[in-house]
Amino acid sequence: MGQVIEIVKGDITQLSVDAIVNAANSSLMGGGGVDGAIHRAAGPELLEECKTLNGCPTGEAKMTKGYNLPAKYVIHTVGPIFFSQQPNKPLLLANCYRNSMRIAAENGVKTIAFPAISTGVYSYPVREATGIAIQEVRRAMVRYRKIERVVFCCFDDYTYNTYLELIKE
Ligand code: AR6
Repeated sequence: MGQVIEIVKGDITQLSVDAIVNAANSSLMGGGGVDGAIHRAAGPELLEECKTLNGCPTGEAKMTKGYNLPAKYVIHTVGPIFFSQQPNKPLLLANCYRNSMRIAAENGVKTIAFPAISTGVYSYPVREATGIAIQEVRRAMVRYRKIERVVFCCFDDYTYNTYLELIKE
């Protein structure tokens, strides 16, 4: 069974995959950016389920249902804040991808889409973040052979072009 990585430009809330990943904050109570878009598209039941999760530490991930989204599940992860005192931000960002892929595999997810975690409100430089994202997803796909397709869903041209460039390396 082949495994593929796809790079697309667009709105992650529209994707018909088993799970989409949310770049959330540690409260899991919603916010702006992709988090706001996911909560709007999923509907208010998503927030109700998130309230039961007691938040999420940076680098970890927690799963909910997708409600009104085409995706069956949302995997909420919390990226590092680039201009913060958090130690080892590259490792924290890597952990977001690693833990999201692990939870996906544990729940039988075959197709999953990621946004560019931490590169918006949290200001992580796109190029560095993209290198980490690609490396960690590749590693996880070796470990979890049942994940068939991973989509990197980019919202802007710069992010999209950076993924297209770095995926060739
Ligand atoms: N589909 C795909 N990507 C999107 C979408 C979308 N609909 N909307 C934005 N992006 P950000 P962060 C891109 O700020 O940096 C929230 O308030 C966006 O262009 O959403 O991890 C949370 O509650 C960028 O490339 O997430 C947290 O407080 C990428 O998604 C905080 O922001 C990530 O940008 C998290 O900040």
